[in-house]
Amino acid sequence: MNVLGIETSCDETSAAVVRDGTVVLSNVVYSQIAQHRPYGGVVPEIASRSHVEEIGGIVSKAMADAGLDWKDLDAVAVTYGPGLASSLLVGLAAAKALALRLAKPLVPVNHVEAHLFSLFLGEESPRPETACPLVALMVSGGHTALVRMDKVGRYHLLGQTLDDAAGEALDKGANLMKLGYPGGPEIEKVAAVGDPAYVKFPRGVVANPRDDRIGDLDPRLCFSFSGLKTALLYYLKDHPQVLTDGTLKHVAASYQEAVFDALLSRTERALQQERVSFFGCVGGVAKNQRLREKLVGLAKKYDLQLLLAPMAYCTDNAAMVAALAGATGWSATGGSQDLDVQPDLTIS
Ligand code: KG4
Ligand code: ZN
Repeated sequence: MNVLGIETSCDETSAAVVRDGTVVLSNVVYSQIAQHRPYGGVVPEIASRSHVEEIGGIVSKAMADAGLDWKDLDAVAVTYGPGLASSLLVGLAAAKALALRLAKPLVPVNHVEAHLFSLFLGEESPRPETACPLVALMVSGGHTALVRMDKVGRYHLLGQTLDDAAGEALDKGANLMKLGYPGGPEIEKVAAVGDPAYVKFPRGVVANPRDDRIGDLDPRLCFSFSGLKTALLYYLKDHPQVLTDGTLKHVAASYQEAVFDALLSRTERALQQERVSFFGCVGGVAKNQRLREKLVGLAKKYDLQLLLAPMAYCTDNAAMVAALAGATGWSATGGSQDLDVQPDLTIS
């Protein structure tokens, strides 16, 4: 069963072909980072125009790399949310056109669910049936959440950020420190030779201890990074010399450490609560080596199996979209040309 996946939810145009939900035959990703860099963040209008320009070539290349003919495809899967409406629309329009022309089912895929499925794309990864139930930490530029996955398709949101996502906090922090864009990898580079204990930044307590719920969520499993960002802003105002005196690496390392400590403490709490054997981490920030080391430490502490999304499938890609569709099938959803984008789609 060969599925063509299409992903355009933010600033990557991607197409992939995956066989039987596991074998990635091709995965082509065009990153728009260079186009957004002058603005220090994703500009939706530039993103959607770029998707329009690239999508045709990217899909053709994914098919060529897979060595397949159009008639070899069994379905076309596409991210329909969450994400930027004007970006999602481009991928959805392309997928609808292909599904109609090829007379194949159109499979709608939730972007966050696809990220979670990236846990199973490693060569050594266990099958979802073996690893579930598990706790997953989803950390990207747009999302930060703790999710219990009971099985593919059944999720329970345990906690999430109340303001910025972890990646967004790194991107905004890098901007304040006048490092490049996107901020996560830039901070990682500088922080690698810095002292993470140099500045004690706040670890983002999200609620008054008397609040026992935030909506349906336990505040102790939620995240907040806006206070951390403000702390960095004031630190830099009070110590402007750090931008030039060689100590910026220590400030960057301390800031990154505060983001990761906040992630780890909530993840640890979720693991104590959920008593699963497996836990994992997905999304763009999961590329970070310091975060990966800390997660390995947590796995050792509780003698748990850690699943990390393979590096190639941490940031946005269509392989995870096609793989999820191939693993779950599409009898109930296939084929609807009425499908619309859902920019604020959730997973539970
Ligand atoms: O998953 P992703 O490609 O897009 C969203 O769905 O949001 O994640 C992008 C985010 C950006 O905030 C970027 O700074 C962060 O992932 N990121 C990293 C690293 N590589 C990308 N953060 C920390 N360390 C990295 N090496
Ligand atoms: Zn993403």
